[in-house]
Amino acid sequence: MSALQLPDELFAGDVALSQRDGHLYVEEIAATELAARFGTPLYVVSERALRANAREWRRAVAEAWPEGPTLVMPSLKANTSLALRHVLNAEGLGCDVFGLGELELALRCGVAPRRLSLNGATKDTATLTRAVAAGVRVTLDSADELERVRAVARDLGRVATVRFRLRPWLAGSEAPSDFFDDLPAYLSVHDYRAGMPPEEVEASLPIALGAPEIEPTGLMAHVSRQTVELGFWAEHGAAMGRTAAQLSRANGGWRPRELDLGGGFAVPRDPTARALPRRADAPPAPSPAAYLGELTGALRAELRAGGLDPAGIALEVEPGRAVYGSAGIHLATVRHVKHQARPLARTWVETDTSETFLADTMIERNGWTVLLAGALDRGERAHAAITGISCGFDVLAEAREMPRAAAGDLLAFLDTGAYQDTTASNFNAMGRPATVLVSGDRAEVVKRAETLDDLLARECVPERLLPDQATAMPPSTDRTAPVTQRAASEAR
Ligand SMILES: Cc1ncc(COP(=O)(O)O)c(C=O)c1O
Repeated sequence: MSALQLPDELFAGDVALSQRDGHLYVEEIAATELAARFGTPLYVVSERALRANAREWRRAVAEAWPEGPTLVMPSLKANTSLALRHVLNAEGLGCDVFGLGELELALRCGVAPRRLSLNGATKDTATLTRAVAAGVRVTLDSADELERVRAVARDLGRVATVRFRLRPWLAGSEAPSDFFDDLPAYLSVHDYRAGMPPEEVEASLPIALGAPEIEPTGLMAHVSRQTVELGFWAEHGAAMGRTAAQLSRANGGWRPRELDLGGGFAVPRDPTARALPRRADAPPAPSPAAYLGELTGALRAELRAGGLDPAGIALEVEPGRAVYGSAGIHLATVRHVKHQARPLARTWVETDTSETFLADTMIERNGWTVLLAGALDRGERAHAAITGISCGFDVLAEAREMPRAAAGDLLAFLDTGAYQDTTASNFNAMGRPATVLVSGDRAEVVKRAETLDDLLARECVPERLLPDQATAMPPSTDRTAPVTQRAASEAR
């Protein structure tokens, strides 16, 4: 899918985006109206799409696993906006959190502790204490962490509910990892430190079962968005089933109460790794039902083959990007189109956003679907790259033939609802953009843009370094105005 092109099927199945008289609409509001009201750059999330994604995942997992209860637990890291989390609470979804900050956000948003899973690398005592005291399930990352949870539980006089996070061996699939140029996904899973190898879980489970202060409820594994090849996902389900059955046999018929298959499911238009030649024209990602069919079919078969009846075991999944991603778009304004004839012929469509605010351009080598939001039907074409405002190369879309963009045009980057806000930075002293939630014909700011005062709030200049007149910053501008939007309006 190319930047600024509009294939007929682009909005297929999309409950939020539509095309009306050449304009992109988010639910009932034109993107150009959102830009005029709230400024750019801007993250926009459709409540209707977020709810639809939540419901589709709930339905798909329940249909794929009639054996027992099911729970969808989107990762908070994908989008920490509290308003969006309240929407997901209302949709009956649990939540995966990583570390103390996310745990605190989820608890303050009212996510029920039993519907939370606390992940994290080397969780410290403060984090474990908060989780155990609140009754949150701790997903263990090492045998060492089991000992530390035991100590915390004993100190609190509580029983800690824990699950073991597996680092599974999925060598039955040769699928290449989309995160690397030449590494199979099954090895890429082992290039990432999270989780415990099966032997470590085997050694730890008997200890947990014998500890009165610990209640081991099951297993969890997250293999991340390595690939969309369904054979890999079947391997993931199979490995979980094999490990669970083997642990059951080795521990007097222990039955896990829950098995959690993590996240890593692509969004339908799937921008991930489209910079890789083999991914450039990849078809839409598998549906939730397709992923879950593969996972549960293999899981069920291996549980049964290993003598562990799946009936009654709860199944959980943690789709982060797949719940938030397609619900969001990012709006940016073209400020200038710059041409260079020699020594390299270049046309740069210069925008007021940045890879700093669309970080998966770099992290996951995304190829965004970019639309001319106020002129979807523009026929005139040009060869150009879309660039950002930072001092980096900041190429948001590689040079290609696309509808001709001009200063003042509004661009919409699709599928930016997951990870773009949470990984945005303040490079070049840029304030991070606001997020607006659209619901029908209503649009509300749910995260305001950062002001210069926000950026300065962490600075502490020792008195001795200040010049006589004391101020490090001339108070000539309104420092409470959003940094990026003020800069944009000054430039126009
Ligand atoms: C433990 C865990 N679960 C779920 C997710 C969500 O992944 P995704 O957004 O790719 O679905 C992550 C992401 O890193 C994770 O670490």
